[in-house]
Amino acid sequence: MKIGVFDSGKGGTVILEAIKNNLPHEQYMYIGDSENCPYGEKTDEELMKIVCEIVERLKDWGAKIIVIACNTATTRCIDRLRELYPDLVFVGTEPAVKLAVDTGLNNVLVMATPGTIHSERMMSLIKENQKPGQKIDLLACAGLADAIERGENIDVVLDGLIGKMGTYDVVVLGCTHYSLIKERIQKYFPNAKLIDGSEGVANRVSKLVLKNA
Ligand code: DGL
Repeated sequence: MKIGVFDSGKGGTVILEAIKNNLPHEQYMYIGDSENCPYGEKTDEELMKIVCEIVERLKDWGAKIIVIACNTATTRCIDRLRELYPDLVFVGTEPAVKLAVDTGLNNVLVMATPGTIHSERMMSLIKENQKPGQKIDLLACAGLADAIERGENIDVVLDGLIGKMGTYDVVVLGCTHYSLIKERIQKYFPNAKLIDGSEGVANRVSKLVLKNA
C-alpha cells in the first residue's frame, strides 16, 4: 500500500522510521516541507493552504493513507482535511498526553509549538486525560522547531526556553522535531521520563494497513 507521510521538515522522519519498523514492505512517500517551517507559527488559514497542497501531491502520487507526522498540522487541520478528502485515510500525530498521564506520575510538562499549545485540541487532550491531583504544565516553544530544522542555535533556544525550569516527572515531546534532540532535552530534566507519540502512530498505521490489505 502507498503511504504518504509529511511534516514541516525532518521531524516527521521519526514517525516514518517507527512506521517502517512495523511495516517494512509498504511503499512510502515523504514530504519534508522545510521551506514552510515553522508550521507552529502560522495562522490556521496559512497552514491549511500549505497542508492541502501537500495532500494533493501525495494523493496524485497514489497515497491511500496519509500520515500527518506533525502535531501542529494535526491539531489544527485534521478535522477539516477529513471533511475535504473523504476518500483518504488520515492518521494524525498528537501530543502524547494520555501516555504521560497513564504513567501515573503527577508532574507533567508538555512541550510543543505555539500553534499546538494554543489549539482547541490541546485543551481537549488535557480535559479528557488529566486526573485529580495531576499537574500538567504547557510550554509553547517558539523558535525551537525552526532551530532544529536549520541545525542552528539549538542550545541557545533550548536554554532560553527550559534553562530555568523546575523539575518534572514526565516531559511530553509534543512536536516531532523535538524527538530528534531528545538527549539534549533530557539533560535539562535528568530524572524525567521523555515521551513522544511515534509508536502510537505507527501502531495505528499497522492496524489500518492490515484492515485494508
Ligand atoms: N514537527 C512539527 C510538529 O510536530 C511542526 C514544527 C513546526 O514546523 O513548527 O509540531
